[in-house]
Amino acid sequence: MRNEEMDDFVERVNAQTDILSVVQGYVPMKRKGNRYWGCCPFHQENTPSFSVVPDKGFFYCFGCHAGGNAFKFLSMIENVSYFEAIKLQAEKLGIPLPERHKSPQELAREQERKDLRKVNELARDFFHNCLTMTRLGEPGLAYFKKRGIRPETIEEFQLGFAPLAWDKLSTAFLKRGIKQEFLLASGLAAERRNGNGLYDRFRGRVIIPIADERGRVVGFGGRVLDDSTPKYLNTPETVLFNKRRILFGLDRAHRAIQREGYAIVVEGYMDAISVFDAGVENVVASLGTAFTPEHSKLLLRYAPVICFCYDSDEAGQNATIRALSIVRDTGAEVRVIVVPDGKDPDEYIRKHGAEAFRALVQKAMPLVDYRLHYVLSHTRYDTLAGKVQALQAMMPVLAGIRKPTERSEYEKKLAQALMLDEGVVQAELARYRPEVLPKETKAPVRQAVVQQDDALRRAGRIVIRMAWQDPAVLAHVETILTLEKLADPVQREILLLLKQGLSEGRPVDEAMTAGLSDEASAELSRALVENLGGREETQAYEDSLKVLKKAELNALYMEHSRRANEYLQAGNKAYLDELNEVNKIKHEMDEW
Ligand code: UTP
Ligand code: MN
Repeated sequence: MRNEEMDDFVERVNAQTDILSVVQGYVPMKRKGNRYWGCCPFHQENTPSFSVVPDKGFFYCFGCHAGGNAFKFLSMIENVSYFEAIKLQAEKLGIPLPERHKSPQELAREQERKDLRKVNELARDFFHNCLTMTRLGEPGLAYFKKRGIRPETIEEFQLGFAPLAWDKLSTAFLKRGIKQEFLLASGLAAERRNGNGLYDRFRGRVIIPIADERGRVVGFGGRVLDDSTPKYLNTPETVLFNKRRILFGLDRAHRAIQREGYAIVVEGYMDAISVFDAGVENVVASLGTAFTPEHSKLLLRYAPVICFCYDSDEAGQNATIRALSIVRDTGAEVRVIVVPDGKDPDEYIRKHGAEAFRALVQKAMPLVDYRLHYVLSHTRYDTLAGKVQALQAMMPVLAGIRKPTERSEYEKKLAQALMLDEGVVQAELARYRPEVLPKETKAPVRQAVVQQDDALRRAGRIVIRMAWQDPAVLAHVETILTLEKLADPVQREILLLLKQGLSEGRPVDEAMTAGLSDEASAELSRALVENLGGREETQAYEDSLKVLKKAELNALYMEHSRRANEYLQAGNKAYLDELNEVNKIKHEMDEW
């Protein structure tokens, strides 16, 4: 497929797409003026702050700042990529996708994945029917009943049973014409060691289907009915099943994660199922492997907070500590739900009920509190050596706290718990600091920028809105500002894209925004819906240009002053030129 054909296709879909009707397919909207309002589907709210301006083609939520065009909306709500969203919409509109010429390898790989998905789907039905409709499934049903799993839950998760026989599934599938190679590639069967023929991987186990985030079955977990080992058997790594990337339950949980603003991660499938059943739907399980950075990134697409609820045994606690550092490195905020009694969430819910578990969720601890709790219960801090040990164990998390007020609060807490003078804790932290100096010194600077940012960004949005509505404005902006030097990278991205698009003679519409990053697309939507209107708007535009110009000059001023100072220190006469420059900028600043 040529690029032009693809552009044509996207343009056609775009032209025929009405954002309001797309959104209304999911969210009831009410008209007020030239906007429509509804309750945001991407976060929990009772009063509408989610708006659509149909003639602009954008949505924006004033509560959670999600925003973008119709395809962005579809991609977020259906949990698919931007391009998938365009294809979805094309399907609804009956616009055919242009044929793409794929390489034979690509086609083969795609076909293989399709075939394997199909085989997995058939296997899920096979196991589920075996459990619910045949006598062979009776031991499985008895097991689930004993564990307190309701028939509705069996249906919801399509749980199943693999009969206690060598090749029931293999024989049935081969008879239906499914090729042996697919049974092997999907991990459902293995070759017998001597002689030919296959045997089933899962035998005499209850079966939990594992889906990818879009709900397509990629593998299975099977649990024994008694105490034999291995307790759980999983599908081996296949082209579809990569444990580092798959989180059990994400297909059901992702909307709840988005709505609640955090994800709960448990260790086992049965925990995830119980927690979900208890009415807490934003839960996923890692598959018996450690929590990986890939898992973390996957969850961060839906919410900034990850809440661990691992087993309360030693292994579970150690796993929590390990997971915490992984998650923090990917930038997520971490909390921990502590299960006080009973080994894991599943057992806790069976023992104390759903309500009690939901209360635990509400009491999730911030990472630092959890670490403190953990360290205090794992060191004998009544001895001096123990105190030192506890102190050192706390240093990494203490030093990681960005806010000085918050840090000093925890310094106090730790000092009290260890019965030490607060000064000792501070001294230890000061000694520890050098190792984390780069991060620490950055923190205050970043905060200052963020504060200044607000006024600057508001000004930037006004300029963006005006320029977007009338391309001639951009030319005017450029007589005053250097777009490449705009301090805010997101706004810079938007204006540079607009400039580029205009220079290529493209129309200013949503199609132009396809290349924007997520942040930029949300920022643009925000700019376009924050409407002032009328004469006020022209005034606001001029003020905004001034604000931005001052910021640009200020940055320049700082840069030359710094350089002047450097030259001066080094005894380089060039400092005179720099000072000259500084003076010029100062004059110019006064003019604005
Ligand atoms: P647990 O041993 O904590 O299992 O293992 P559980 O969830 O409490 O299981 P029940 O309640 O006894 O049924 C946690 C996870 O580790 C993986 C599985 O993914 C399991 O859900 N695991 C455990 C294995 O893959 N193989 C095993 O042999 C054991
Ligand atoms: Mn358990």
